[in-house]
Amino acid sequence: MSTGEGALPRIGLGTFGLTGAGGLGALLSAISIGYRHIDTAQSYGTEENVGRAIARSGILRNDFFVTTKVTTANLVRLEESVDDSLNLMGLGYADLVLIHWPGRYDDPPVSDYIGRLARVQDSGKASLIGVSNFTRAHVDQAIAEIGLGRLETNQFEQNVFLQNRVLADHCRDAGIGVTAYMPLAGGRLDQTPLLAEIAARHDAGVNQIALAFLLAIGSVVIPKSATPERQKSNLEAATITLDDAEVAALAALDRGQRFIDPEWGPDWD
Ligand SMILES: NC(=O)c1ccc[n+]([C@@H]2O[C@H](COP(=O)([O-])OP(=O)(O)OC[C@H]3O[C@@H](n4cnc5c(N)ncnc54)[C@H](OP(=O)(O)O)[C@@H]3O)[C@@H](O)[C@H]2O)c1
Repeated sequence: MSTGEGALPRIGLGTFGLTGAGGLGALLSAISIGYRHIDTAQSYGTEENVGRAIARSGILRNDFFVTTKVTTANLVRLEESVDDSLNLMGLGYADLVLIHWPGRYDDPPVSDYIGRLARVQDSGKASLIGVSNFTRAHVDQAIAEIGLGRLETNQFEQNVFLQNRVLADHCRDAGIGVTAYMPLAGGRLDQTPLLAEIAARHDAGVNQIALAFLLAIGSVVIPKSATPERQKSNLEAATITLDDAEVAALAALDRGQRFIDPEWGPDWD
């Protein structure tokens, strides 16, 4: 069942692109800096590296929070694909398993796979379950199938330029947390004077302010960096407290600018 208390550590490491030996090195550095929440997916090709980094870290598996995501091609073999993920990571369970995207053009429909995801949780292979890139309509379809209280989070694109407030409010009203992917707008924040101004006030970086804003509005964030200094700086964003006026000013940066928008994707809210 969803905890309703925010079981996800508030800052996690995004792993998109952290493949090969360089990716493994980046994961090991992140763990040594203090990251314990790691976001991977079947489609990233990083599950093996995540498992290796956890094993090599010498830190207890139970101290980590590992999320993976079932890719759309695997919706028809969801259960087997979760087994594949666990084998690749060398883990007995995932802390959170998400549906990565609703079916392409809604094929298969939510009703075909969300109950099966709930049964994966019942089997103990996923401590928590959730969804990603689900619109309000998809969230409602999922709740109609498996009831309130099962989905822990909806992971979707959210950053200062795309705040997705309508969807975020809808999820929270249903007891579903928000995980912000691309929280740094993919590294495109540098030319934003307001971020620079607030960053100077806090003696912080613009990326830290962008993350602190998302944390202030209640989201979990999963920035990706392969660079140890940036990993550290991103993790330290949790120590920055923005005041109400700063949060309101940053809220006004929303311009509905979406970076991830595949042609087969959903009709966004
Ligand atoms: N569910 C989904 O469909 C979905 C979609 C997209 C992403 N995600 C998840 O969300 C994670 C984050 O999204 P993302 O990787 O696309 O974008 P992001 O985290 O917004 O941005 C990553 C980019 O910002 C740079 N960066 C990181 N920290 C920085 C800092 N402190 N200062 C300056 N630049 C910095 C990184 O470069 P360096 O690595 O060189 O530092 C990288 O180029 C992904 O890794 C993935 O786990 C999920």
